[in-house]
Amino acid sequence: PRYFALIPAAGVGARMVADGPKQYMSLGGKPMLRHALDAFLASEKISHVFVAVSAGDRQIDAVAPSHGVTVLRCGGATRMESIRNALVVMASAVLDTDWVLVHDAARPGLDRMLIEKLIAEVGVHPVGGLLALPVVDTVKRAGADSAVFAVATTISRDALWLAQTPQMFRYRLLRDALDAATTAVDSGAITDDASAVEAFGHAPMLVEGHPRNLKVTLPRDIRIAEMYLAAP
Ligand code: CTP
Ligand code: MG
Repeated sequence: PRYFALIPAAGVGARMVADGPKQYMSLGGKPMLRHALDAFLASEKISHVFVAVSAGDRQIDAVAPSHGVTVLRCGGATRMESIRNALVVMASAVLDTDWVLVHDAARPGLDRMLIEKLIAEVGVHPVGGLLALPVVDTVKRAGADSAVFAVATTISRDALWLAQTPQMFRYRLLRDALDAATTAVDSGAITDDASAVEAFGHAPMLVEGHPRNLKVTLPRDIRIAEMYLAAP
């Protein structure tokens, strides 16, 4: 099988409160999205990269290299919709048994080593898997009263992991799982690709990622991301 990358980049970046979508903010000398693109292009394991942007996107042509990358103007209202739309278009280029690595444009700290670690460990797994970080903090669940936060319980962090991307699944399984997720009763609990696959009855593999692969969500994340990008 081959390995394809799919980068959803059709969000508006509301929580970043910047001038435009955060995937085009300049970070460590280049647009945020370009970091993820370059990480995939640097790996010989990756056959091709697809990027899903919104139909009205006017910045992608200046950011995506013409070689090795296909821009799909098929962004939807949600991340999951953008990915589902992209997978439909990709059907003409990808086999059911090929792997798809879905990675957020908002994680510029990805590098070739993390990509190839994921592929090496998950490529022999029947279902697929994701990069994730073991939780190091003590975790509290708050009580039902959201006016005054009080601890209801402390949750053992022993088996807890924080999901990152890429999340890697066989094309057909991912497509079927996301289709099923959109009609699921608890679709609100499906917040990443892995949770769709989990709801579909499978147990994705956890592969230890790296803090540098953080998701840039809030303005305060910018400086942390730049610190990692500047580090060797
Ligand atoms: N994304 C997408 N299509 C959407 C929403 C999000 O392709 N309709 C992408 C984003 O561009 C990003 C990734 O999904 O690369 C992760 O989403 P997130 O960090 O939430 O980005 P935004 O949705 O843009 O930010 P916010 O939620 O703050 O508006
Ligand atoms: Mg979002």
